[in-house]
Amino acid sequence: MDSRVARVTMTSIQQSLRGELDAVFGELRRMVQADFPLVNQVNEHLLRIRGKMFRPTLLLLAAQSVGQIGRRELTLGAILELIHIATLVHDDSVDHSPLRRGQPTVNAEFSHEIAVIMGDYLYSRAIEKLVQLDSLEPLRIMSRVTNELTIGEMREVVAHDVLSFTQDDYEQLIRAKTASLMAGACELGALVGDDEFREPLKQYGLSLGSAFQIADDLLDYTAAESATGKPSSQDLREHKITLPLIAALQHMTSAEKQQVEDLMANQTPDTDEINAIIRIVEVRGGIAAARERAQELALQAEAELAVIPPGRARDALRDCIMYSIERRR
Ligand code: FPP
Ligand code: MG
Repeated sequence: MDSRVARVTMTSIQQSLRGELDAVFGELRRMVQADFPLVNQVNEHLLRIRGKMFRPTLLLLAAQSVGQIGRRELTLGAILELIHIATLVHDDSVDHSPLRRGQPTVNAEFSHEIAVIMGDYLYSRAIEKLVQLDSLEPLRIMSRVTNELTIGEMREVVAHDVLSFTQDDYEQLIRAKTASLMAGACELGALVGDDEFREPLKQYGLSLGSAFQIADDLLDYTAAESATGKPSSQDLREHKITLPLIAALQHMTSAEKQQVEDLMANQTPDTDEINAIIRIVEVRGGIAAARERAQELALQAEAELAVIPPGRARDALRDCIMYSIERRR
């Protein structure tokens, strides 16, 4: 990727789509309305912060790069964001996370039971809206993607053996848990254009999504809570095995590996113990190796765009790659 002086921001990427994204958010608001006060109360809580709307942005840009955005794409954007929110509500409940986007999570503010039911409510509402479109192809894409998401989450829940969890295992996991939805977003957008663009845009989304998740996992090692809106070092605290740790393990001494195993065996590791592992991961090259892998995937994503017609939308898709690997929160 070329190195640019100015950092790419989501706001700059979304500049030309402001009207469309407002329409997507409006539609999302209407979609989640229920005839039940508690559901609406949780909806209000969830929609208080709008989120970056990265997935609808990918869908709209993919559509624009090979054709035109129509009403259907706005609805699909809202459905995508709705599914994304549903997965986060469930994920926070699974992870027992207290904060998301700087706000208490549904499990923290309401309860785990309510988080599980709300995730189901939002997801089933998204499917209802998808079916109303009366078009099989988006349904085919999204049913495959949401099923993959659940497998990704399941892979994560059972990944606890730090010495046997390989980089391949990790990459399989992040493709399912994160990249699949971004690839789905691009594929949905590609439906407005010629068939030949569908696979490259899907592959772009897969590489971009994996790079995005590696960058996210890096932030857990490098960023402060004030920047991300989520507690930092949470992955290690929860014994989540991500690329910086996997890559560093290959270069650790036996004593250091033992320290990692001890942390994984400790149900309530303290901050000193966690910080010691973060230092080892840094010194043993885990952060650098993960950054390098994110760069490689970024290049793969960029290569997929070569067959997409040149123009503003393709440039913006390229900026999305930079955004994914450079982001600070
Ligand atoms: C966040 O990852 C989690 C996901 C992107 C996927 C979650 C998927 C599910 C819960 C299963 C599918 C659910 C439905 C409703 C179809 P993370 O924990 O690495 O990110 P974080 O640090 O932002 O929490
Ligand atoms: Mg999580």
